[in-house]
Amino acid sequence: MSTSKPWGGRFRQATDHRVESFTLSLDFDRRLYGHDIRGSIAHARMLAHVGVLTGTECDQIVTGLKQIKSDIERGEFEWLPALEDVHMNIELRLTERIGEVGKKLHTGRSRNDQVATDLRLYLRDAVDEILSAIVATQVSLFDIAEREAETIMPGFTHMQVAQPVTVGHHVMAWSEMLERDVQRLFEVRQRINIMPLGAAALSGTSFPIDRTFTARELGFDVPSANSLDAVSDRDFVIEFVADAAILMVHLSRMAEELILWSSEPFGFIQIGDAFCTGSSIMPQKKNPDVAELTRAKSGRVFGHLVAILSVMKGQPLAYNRDNQEDKELSFDTVDTVLACLEVMLGMMSDVQFQRERLLAAAQRGYSTATDLAEYLVSKGVPFRDAHEAVGKTVRYALEQHKSLSDLSLEELRVFSGEIQEDVFDRLTVEGSVGVRVHLGGTAPSEVRKSVQNARERLTHHRDLLGRLPR
Ligand code: ARG
Repeated sequence: MSTSKPWGGRFRQATDHRVESFTLSLDFDRRLYGHDIRGSIAHARMLAHVGVLTGTECDQIVTGLKQIKSDIERGEFEWLPALEDVHMNIELRLTERIGEVGKKLHTGRSRNDQVATDLRLYLRDAVDEILSAIVATQVSLFDIAEREAETIMPGFTHMQVAQPVTVGHHVMAWSEMLERDVQRLFEVRQRINIMPLGAAALSGTSFPIDRTFTARELGFDVPSANSLDAVSDRDFVIEFVADAAILMVHLSRMAEELILWSSEPFGFIQIGDAFCTGSSIMPQKKNPDVAELTRAKSGRVFGHLVAILSVMKGQPLAYNRDNQEDKELSFDTVDTVLACLEVMLGMMSDVQFQRERLLAAAQRGYSTATDLAEYLVSKGVPFRDAHEAVGKTVRYALEQHKSLSDLSLEELRVFSGEIQEDVFDRLTVEGSVGVRVHLGGTAPSEVRKSVQNARERLTHHRDLLGRLPR
């Protein structure tokens, strides 16, 4: 007696129902149906190209697969959990639809190279989608940076007021973080875009396959170089999730600043009502939940990174069922990253900067003390002596409850005889940011230049994204 499984030939007993549900992947790997069908079509065409299938057989298979795809998309496909996964569901339906010839599709192929191919195709699309979402977020940051190029705010170190900066400069720092994410994703895309098909179960196949043909059909850069590695490698998942985790670090940092800045004591920004929620008990509350959830969702992606590292650690060559655990975490990583980017983009476009509050905050906390020290250096005082003199000036001003620019020339000259009337230009926050005109500086003119450069860089990214094979 043989069981009803496609692999049931050598089995005498039916699968235990607990094993069936334990090993089932259909619930989540269904999501790969489009990539699976695309891979199968390419495989069938290759088999026809090398003469393993006739042209007619190939046409029947391709037509059948396309019909199945449209059945799935119309919700008219009956998924059978007993068939374990997306691959066998589609393959068995193909045979039901087109008859015996459907059974020829799996020639020279295994689910091991098939699933690795599907996941690579899926992640390649996901990377492209994430890249477009990051680029869109960067554009909204550029718009803010240009609008707020002159807006002065306190810059912080240790969360203490340090020196004045411009809002444009701060926002462009976020964009730089995202820029590195873009670069990382372009790099991981190259390592994703390698084709496992042809490795079959682990050792390749006796059929005269043309792997370059299949790779070209699927937009892969090259076929993998070793069949054992091809079916077992999940480095591309590890790397992708690691890159996603770093991206989530960045989004969580941006989110955290938005949360702080929108709080009453800061009052630096107003987040649009559409991106906040209320409290069920405190009628006055307007909460930055979107930013909070973005901050928190970084945790799941970090968890997925540890999970996939653990799945792969110590795995012997070649394919093991362990690898089935790569999918849910990959899917959740993609969903989480895209969802966070989407709301972040919306929220960013709806943030109002409270220019007066920002300016007032920058003026507090002796943020131009370093400027006073640099002024003294420009008058010939060695930096360490200047630092000491300004430290004493700040202590005096603190005792007098005055800011540095409130001190009179006479008061200032007590601490250094080099101080002249021209010092007052340097003690204002506008003066402080205005002189930082070097590459990477916070002056409004530099912010505008950096936005212009970043916009050009982005045009290159967009061009590249448009030209990539897929
Ligand atoms: N569902 C499996 C996975 O995700 C497909 C490959 C199964 N291969 C096997 N020999 N059982 O990895």
